[in-house]
Amino acid sequence: MSSTHGTLFKTTTFGESHCKAVGVVIDGCPPGLSLTEKDIQPQLDRRRPGQSALATNRQEADQVQILSGTERGKTLGTPIALRVNNLDQNPNDYKEMSTIPRPSHADYTYQMKYGIRAASGGGRSSARETIGNVAAGAVAEKILREKYGVEIVAWVASVGSIEAAPVDHGQITREMVDGHITRCPDARVNGAMEDLITQLKEEGDSIGGTVGCVIRGVPVGIGEPTYDKLEAALARTMLAIPATKGFEIGSGFAGTRMRGSEHNDPFIVKGNRLGTTTNNSGGIQGGIANGEDIYFRIAFKPPATISLPQKTVNFDGEKTILEAKGRHDPCVVPRAVPIVEAMAALVILDMTMCQEAREALNFSPPR
Ligand SMILES: Cc1cc2nc3c(=O)[nH]c(=O)nc-3n(C[C@H](O)[C@H](O)[C@H](O)COP(=O)(O)O)c2cc1C
Repeated sequence: MSSTHGTLFKTTTFGESHCKAVGVVIDGCPPGLSLTEKDIQPQLDRRRPGQSALATNRQEADQVQILSGTERGKTLGTPIALRVNNLDQNPNDYKEMSTIPRPSHADYTYQMKYGIRAASGGGRSSARETIGNVAAGAVAEKILREKYGVEIVAWVASVGSIEAAPVDHGQITREMVDGHITRCPDARVNGAMEDLITQLKEEGDSIGGTVGCVIRGVPVGIGEPTYDKLEAALARTMLAIPATKGFEIGSGFAGTRMRGSEHNDPFIVKGNRLGTTTNNSGGIQGGIANGEDIYFRIAFKPPATISLPQKTVNFDGEKTILEAKGRHDPCVVPRAVPIVEAMAALVILDMTMCQEAREALNFSPPR
C-alpha cells in the first residue's frame, strides 16, 4: 500500500523494475517555481545503472519527462507527474528465480504477502523504485536551496571493512564526492574500495558499505515532537531505501561509549541564535533541529543477487543450487549517494512546510 511520503509535500512513486515506466506524482509543490527536466536530470544521472564499471551493467538512460504540473517552465501548484521509461529489460535472466526465491531478496516475502509477484527484476522491490524519489528529491532540493539556503551532501563512508576518515561537514561538496568513481572523498582509501568492488564483481560476489550525509542550513525549529521527531522521520525514510540495514545520527553508537561530560554540546552565541561548540547531537535535540549541521550515516547490506552458487530451496521446498543470472550491483553505496540526498530533501522540505504552516497561525511566535 505504502508508496506515499509526506504531509504537505506529498510524493507517490510508482512502477516495477521491468514495467513500461517508473516515476512519481508530487502533490503540494508550491506554484511559481522555475522547473524543467534540467533541474532533475543531474541527480538521476548520478543514480543511473551502467554509469561506471562499479555499477550493474544494465544500461538505462533514465531520461525524465515532466508530464504535468508546469507551464512555460514554472510550476502551477497542481500535481507534477514525472516519468522515466524502463528500456533495458532482460526478463530471461530471471527465469530461474521465478521458481527459486533469492536468499535475502524480497521474492519470498512478496509472494507470501500478495500470492503473486513481478518475478522479473524484483518488481516493486527493485531499486528502480528509487528513481521516483530521486526525481522528487531534486525538486524538493531546489526549493530548499533557493528559499532556505539548505545544502545536502552525501558520500561513501565505508565499503566492507575499509573506512574513510571522517569528513569536514562544513566543507564537503558534491564535486569532492564525485571526484572518485566510488564517491568516497578520502583519497587514502578510495582506491582500495574500488579494487575490492571490482574484485567482487569479477568473482560474482557482493559487498556492503555505509553512506554518510550532512544537511547544512536547516532552520531552528524544524521537526515535530514524539512520533515525528526529525531523526525518526529521517530514519524511517532512509530505511525505505532498498538494502538498508541501519541508521545512526550524530554520535550514534559511538556515543554509548562516552561520558555525559564529553558528549554534551555546550551552547555559545552564534549570530542571532544559540549554537553549540560540538555537535554530538547531530543537529537535532528533542526531535527538533537546533540550527547545527544535521549528519547521519546509513548501513547498506551486500546486494543479495550474486552469481556464485548458493545452496537453497525452491518455492516447493526442494533442495537446489541457485546461480543467479542477470546484471547486478556488486556494491550499492556509490549509487545510493544521490538516493540518500533525495530522501533527506523530501523529509526536510515536508517538515519545513509543516512548520511554516504552524508559524503562520501561531499566537505566540517563537523567540
Ligand atoms: C542503488 C541500489 C541498487 C541495488 N541493486 C541491487 C542489485 O543489483 N541486486 C540485488 O540483489 N539487490 C540490489 N539492491 C537491493 C535490493 O533492491 C534489496 O535488497 C531487495 O529489494 C530486498 O530488500 P531489503 O534488502 O530492503 O530487505 C539495490 C539497492 C540499491 C539502493
